[in-house]
Amino acid sequence: MLQIQKLTKRFGDKLAVDTANLMIDKPCMIGIIGRSGAGKSTLLRMVNRLAAPTDGAILFEGRDVTALTGHQKRMWQSQCAMIFQQFNLVPRMDVVSNVLHGTLNRRSTLSTLFNLYPADDIHRAIDILERLGIAEHAPKRAEALSGGQQQRVAIARALMQDPKIILADEPIASLDPMNAQTVMQALRRIHEEDGRTVIANLHTLDTARRYCDRVVGMRDGRIVFDGLPEQLTTGVAREIYGASADFSEAATSTEIETLDKSHTGATRPSAATVPAE
Ligand SMILES: Nc1ncnc2c1ncn2[C@@H]1O[C@H](COP(=O)(O)OP(=O)(O)O)[C@@H](O)[C@H]1O
Ligand SMILES: [Mg+2]
Repeated sequence: MLQIQKLTKRFGDKLAVDTANLMIDKPCMIGIIGRSGAGKSTLLRMVNRLAAPTDGAILFEGRDVTALTGHQKRMWQSQCAMIFQQFNLVPRMDVVSNVLHGTLNRRSTLSTLFNLYPADDIHRAIDILERLGIAEHAPKRAEALSGGQQQRVAIARALMQDPKIILADEPIASLDPMNAQTVMQALRRIHEEDGRTVIANLHTLDTARRYCDRVVGMRDGRIVFDGLPEQLTTGVAREIYGASADFSEAATSTEIETLDKSHTGATRPSAATVPAE
């Protein structure tokens, strides 16, 4: 499905991503972990073509998407929607318009006014918000919502594009543990129910273990681990995060695990429901 071959990004002397290979042959949920500066964001940005690779190739369903330009490039970008740590919503605009922005590559500024959207698109936006448990916030300004709700609006906006792949760059890094859990559950559910591939950069190890089918570890631009969450032992984690004295499981953990365990006793979340707020 998605194949990353010897993908490399150089900034001056710095190798941000160093001959990365990744093969995804069926829809899955992948967590990319590693220290700050390991190259996680650059890797995702190259897949989405926000950053141009220095070398290597990205193939999707057998087609080389590395050098697409113009309309073709935009079509590819809508198939691999990106979600960011800071949500990237328009704060003063209402939620449903933010979501409708996901359909908006070609419209004029005037037609971005709410009542000029096709009714079908508006209904679809509301359905998606409903699914994410935030439909009642549709008329509110985005800035009035909590961080976790705003990230779900960003996910809804991504879903409007009906993407095959969702690329999430530290989607929960700005959220408190409860909101982080809600957002990760929403991503997990979108993967399970829709069969979309989710690739999420996560700086905490336990989140990757908990929600992902596969974990990729990066260090100094290189992929140094690619395997199942079960294979991610403390020894492997040391290799990924560096064996320096400051490494400890706790240092890369959030409180989510503790919270989860105290509530459900589960090791992997049930993706069936997203709690309403
Ligand atoms: N636009 C840029 N210009 C120069 N260096 C960059 C740029 N973006 C990232 N880097 C460098 O590339 C490396 C990888 O960065 P990044 O992909 O952001 O890592 P991560 O997301 O894992 O924290 C870092 O050393 C960073 O300083
Ligand atoms: Mg990053």
